[in-house]
Amino acid sequence: MNTITAAITAVGGYVPDFVLSNKVLETMVDTNDEWITTRTGIKERRILKDADKGTSYLAIQAAKDLIAKANIDPLEIDMVIMATATPDMMVASTGVYVATEIGASNAFAYDLQAACSSFLYGMSTAAAYVQSGRYKKVLLIGADKMSSIVDYTDRATCIIFGDGAGAVLFEPNYEGLGLQDEYLRSDGVGRDFLKIPAGGSLIPASEDTVKNRQHNIMQDGKTVFKYAVTNMADASELILQRNNLTNQDVDWLVPHQANKRIIDATAGRLELEESKVLVNIERYGNTTSGTLPLVLYDFEKQLKKGDNIILAAFGGGFTWGSIYLKWAYDKK
Ligand SMILES: CC(C)(COP(=O)(O)OP(=O)(O)OC[C@H]1O[C@@H](n2cnc3c(N)ncnc32)[C@H](O)[C@@H]1OP(=O)(O)O)[C@@H](O)C(=O)NCCC(=O)NCCS
Repeated sequence: MNTITAAITAVGGYVPDFVLSNKVLETMVDTNDEWITTRTGIKERRILKDADKGTSYLAIQAAKDLIAKANIDPLEIDMVIMATATPDMMVASTGVYVATEIGASNAFAYDLQAACSSFLYGMSTAAAYVQSGRYKKVLLIGADKMSSIVDYTDRATCIIFGDGAGAVLFEPNYEGLGLQDEYLRSDGVGRDFLKIPAGGSLIPASEDTVKNRQHNIMQDGKTVFKYAVTNMADASELILQRNNLTNQDVDWLVPHQANKRIIDATAGRLELEESKVLVNIERYGNTTSGTLPLVLYDFEKQLKKGDNIILAAFGGGFTWGSIYLKWAYDKK
């Protein structure tokens, strides 16, 4: 087969050492382990404690892990896409710094921001560059230091998020493996329900915005939950139908890890047995752009060449979608 498809050929990951458990959260806000576990499925999350380190640190560790494991020369990387909702700075692109720090000095880099769907959208972008024949090695990193924007007095948000990063390498494939189809959508109605209100051009930073905690992430959890359940399930179902796949044809569901109940609803709609649904939310919480690659990282050994994988995400904005991917290698 001469057609070029874009396949994931390597995976890397990184989470910081510090564990913030539900038990510790009980001492910080009015919550309890039982509520968090039953309402979200989360038991603990990782936090990057070093005050002088930003999202770039997480991204660099994940990328270095991938480079070492795959034994690639960073000089061969053509492009670095940095999927993140928490860039180090508003203007200087985090991806550019990360590319330089990992030695990818022949690459160009930029950031891609679509909240919790950043990595899913990034997969589409990375694959399109590879399929076009323009670039041969595209490094896609998903990383977020969510602890930098979480208000640890707000029990409705601080229990959900954690810090982490994952990275994948996209390369050309000539066996028809890799990204097969995608369904990506967005709806601006979402900007009122999940946001960091201030610090952008609409409401620049001021004494008042700091005082009013407007630089923290705020969400109407119930509304976000409703939209997430419907749209993640709809998108995944549509991808299956469009590709004539039954639930028996699907080997793995790799869902965004925002809430175990959202994951269960998506898996339920597809009528997938539990063993096919890859979940690590109990250990990391919602790492935003980090969830999908961290799932691939944690379960890489179980993925076999030719496996049919459905990835799905939902995020602020709103942004959402689903991707059908054929896995391209067996981990040695
Ligand atoms: C945030 C979320 C876990 C809250 O769960 P929920 O079942 O919707 O809970 P509600 O907001 O309806 O709150 C139910 C009750 O629990 C309380 N509660 C909220 N957070 C709590 C906590 N951490 N501990 C204990 N009680 C809590 C509420 O105050 C409310 O009490 P009340 O009934 O006396 O008013 C859930 O809505 C969610 O996951 N939403 C999606 C968030 C998301 O995915 N964000 C990222 C985008 S990808």
